[in-house]
Amino acid sequence: MSIATYLERRGELETYFDRTAVDAWAKLTSDAPVGRIRATVRAGRDEMRNTLLSWLPQSMSGARLLDAGCGTGALSIEAARRGARVVAIDLSPTLVSVARERLPSDLDSSTIEFRSGDMLDPKLGRFDFVVAMDSLIHYRPDDMVRVLSRLAERCLHSLLVTFAPRTTGLAAMHTVGRLFPRGDRAPAIEPVREGTLRQRIGSDPALAGWRAQRTHRVARGFYISQALEVTPR
Ligand SMILES: C[S@@+](CC[C@H](N)C(=O)[O-])C[C@H]1O[C@@H](n2cnc3c(N)ncnc32)[C@H](O)[C@@H]1O
Repeated sequence: MSIATYLERRGELETYFDRTAVDAWAKLTSDAPVGRIRATVRAGRDEMRNTLLSWLPQSMSGARLLDAGCGTGALSIEAARRGARVVAIDLSPTLVSVARERLPSDLDSSTIEFRSGDMLDPKLGRFDFVVAMDSLIHYRPDDMVRVLSRLAERCLHSLLVTFAPRTTGLAAMHTVGRLFPRGDRAPAIEPVREGTLRQRIGSDPALAGWRAQRTHRVARGFYISQALEVTPR
């Protein structure tokens, strides 16, 4: 990983998700009415979250899960309902506060540990499962793979990640970046072909014990994202 490009992009993302787009993001991830385009994004994201959850065990009693780039915490809540002990971390302290406020009253508040900071912080400890839903799509593919290798060092069973699939020339248009008015657009999304990502994961010495497994693409209106499961061989 190039530390410089990773840190530069991380800084842009922190500014974007903690300031520029924080209200729009909190609204998108709530039940509040949204326009037609954002509604397709919301539906696509619901489908993606359900896909990732379907790749996790139904009962997660005692398992530790890292929600890496948790945003407003929807996936953390579902994992906690299955009995997981969740660490929910995000660069944006504001989104983490929103996530904390949205914790349903019927869930024991100790089941999710909310933190703001970098998902790669070694102090977070070790996990059975790591999920990074749409939180690595803005990093260059080589940085994304290096992030996966760092997460793999601390993960026992599976890493679930989404990427922005590079398909046709349209790919770059159909991204969450289109959600917000031009001036508010997110840092660029870095589309990557599924084959390229699999090849990089397969050839990275730091991921030698790991293999890319099933995948599922979600394409709903303005939301296109693809889930990939990475597990020990
Ligand atoms: C598109 S949002 C998705 C949030 C959440 N996973 C979801 O699907 O609702 C991406 C999030 O990843 C976070 N993020 C990006 N890079 C991160 C990093 N290195 N460490 C922690 N969070 C990160 C951003 O702050 C942002 O809130």
